[in-house]
Amino acid sequence: MYKFIIRGGQPLSGDVFISGAKNAVLPIMAATLITPGHFILRNVPDLRDTRTMLKLLEIIGAKVNFSDGKMEIDSTTCSNPVAPYEVVKTMRASFDVLGPLSSRFRYAKVSLPGGCAWGPRPVDLHLKALKALGTEVTLEGGYIIVKGAASGAEINFELSSVGATKNALMAAVKAEGQTIIQNAAREPEITALIDFLNALGADISGQDSTRLCINGVKELKNELDFTIIPDRIEAGTFLITNLLLGGEIRLHNVNPEHLAIVLTKLQEAGSRLEITADSILSQGGPSIAPVNITTAPYPGFPTDLQAQWMALMSRAVGDSIIIDEIYHDRFTHVAELNRLGARIKLEQNVAVVEGVARLTGAPVMSTDIRASASLIIAGLAAAGETEVSRIYHIDRGYEKIETKLKNIGADISRVRG
Ligand code: UD1
Repeated sequence: MYKFIIRGGQPLSGDVFISGAKNAVLPIMAATLITPGHFILRNVPDLRDTRTMLKLLEIIGAKVNFSDGKMEIDSTTCSNPVAPYEVVKTMRASFDVLGPLSSRFRYAKVSLPGGCAWGPRPVDLHLKALKALGTEVTLEGGYIIVKGAASGAEINFELSSVGATKNALMAAVKAEGQTIIQNAAREPEITALIDFLNALGADISGQDSTRLCINGVKELKNELDFTIIPDRIEAGTFLITNLLLGGEIRLHNVNPEHLAIVLTKLQEAGSRLEITADSILSQGGPSIAPVNITTAPYPGFPTDLQAQWMALMSRAVGDSIIIDEIYHDRFTHVAELNRLGARIKLEQNVAVVEGVARLTGAPVMSTDIRASASLIIAGLAAAGETEVSRIYHIDRGYEKIETKLKNIGADISRVRG
């Protein structure tokens, strides 16, 4: 097991190259299973989660080569439409293969994600969509089994779900007839998946809106070269870190349009930003103004930046309120931030953050990808030494985080222990 040792206090300076988006590449890797073909994906981040999806594709029978951001997938050899518990329990996004496998094989056997149970809980909307498309969906021994061919249908999601929208799209691409998805998620990663599928020969319209129309096609192409969009959450994390620590950094390979609300909030809080089509120059101000946020589906403030925003607000001059409307219990970082001297009170999904003049280093523990990021950036802002343990979480979603931070002047090292 590794941990980070962080010595806080240094302002940042230099260039950061943003990696490809984790949440875009995972469903696109899954989508290569829909049709037998040869695919090249570029700008692929080397993350634990990408490696997990790679392993899953290999279990299903694909041949995958991955180096230097380029992933080659040969899905012509796939013959085992099964996603085993051992893999799915480590990464919920493994569930993305459900739609593709059922489309290609008219049969899929995919373990329920760890901790979830049958019923009106986290994958109920995925299953509802597959049932609406006419497939038979059952649960056997912890596995969801989908049987039969899909045919076009109207799917109306009662709440916006990224995962359910992805599975519905991928199951419907080759279904006979037309599928309409109402209240679809419209995160940029969904648009990226639609771009990939349309480039492959699918007929999907309505991208960037909450109403998607899919005209089923009989055949898809058998090869495609596709570039993954930049990771807006990684970019947002670096911008928040810069405002917290001060200094000046320039992000490259970023899409500012995907960060619109985050950039507005950062400017309100004191960031000075110069924005071009694919870069952002960011200067931390002399102080941090308190700015409230409420997370919401895109284009709202992303829940995946809520924990990092809380680390920032813990040093604001004044009080702020942070509400998570997507995940009501996504607050494991609160107690850890308080160990560093933050003053945060939590009531259900509402955190009241009283800004403090100083954070002080302490040992803290990561609990998930974004909570880890929040603890690292709080540690970088704290006086003295902070030890962040269980950092395998951060490696799931941030490529070479300590190298990127060191390159801009942070004092962070990975040690065994
Ligand atoms: C994706 C992202 C994750 C992000 C989240 C919200 C990936 C790999 N992960 O997760 O980083 O935090 O979107 O932007 O892309 N829900 C149900 N039933 C369902 C599905 C979801 O009730 O069948 C609820 C969830 O509990 C949650 C809300 O819907 O409250 C949104 O979840 P969803 O958009 O599905 O998140 P994920 O796709 O799992």
